[in-house]
Amino acid sequence: MPSPSDVLGIDRSASEDAIHRAYRRRVKTAHPDQGGSVAEFQAVQAAYEELLERRREGTESSEDSEPTIRQVDVTYLDYAVLEDRGWRLEDAALFEKAAAADLDGGAYGTLSVRPDRTLLESAEQAGQAWPYSCRGGACANCAIAVVEGELSQPVNHVLPAEAIDRGIRLSCVGYPITDELRVVYNVKHLPSIADLRLPPRPADSRGTD
Ligand code: FES
Repeated sequence: MPSPSDVLGIDRSASEDAIHRAYRRRVKTAHPDQGGSVAEFQAVQAAYEELLERRREGTESSEDSEPTIRQVDVTYLDYAVLEDRGWRLEDAALFEKAAAADLDGGAYGTLSVRPDRTLLESAEQAGQAWPYSCRGGACANCAIAVVEGELSQPVNHVLPAEAIDRGIRLSCVGYPITDELRVVYNVKHLPSIADLRLPPRPADSRGTD
């Protein structure tokens, strides 16, 4: 069985930054949307988390150890649920309805996000397989709707001003800038967003309707 370092293709003594970089590189091919598989994606996630934990345990006793980083709570909801149930994005009680609907953890739940991680990376670290393609702000495959709170948008080569005004953001380049966020992910199916997406790849298992 390959070691976590082997799974990410890095040296055992790699720095935390090197671990993050290796993870971002590997997850691009391991994700089910990108020709990988759920098993491969989960193996990469597990290796990443184990290496980070080891790295942090190794620095815990050091005087130079990193300060505790504040986490941001993000509550998420899959847009597919809205389509299935006829719910509207503009509904002020949308998340209350979702909380009462006994949805599975892939469709609705909460995850913690470090302010120095993108929302997409954090969702993946939490075992979610949210859609994406370019990971660079140039398509709309990773689009989310921010219902409460705010996500920064340092890079955006695709969303028109009208979409930004409606709270649409790109999860692959967005960092939380409020203490709490409520987001609807998978909004690539919204009529105004669908035209901005990259074409699905042959192995794309999500949203190839
Ligand atoms: S994956 Fe293309 S903009 Fe985020």
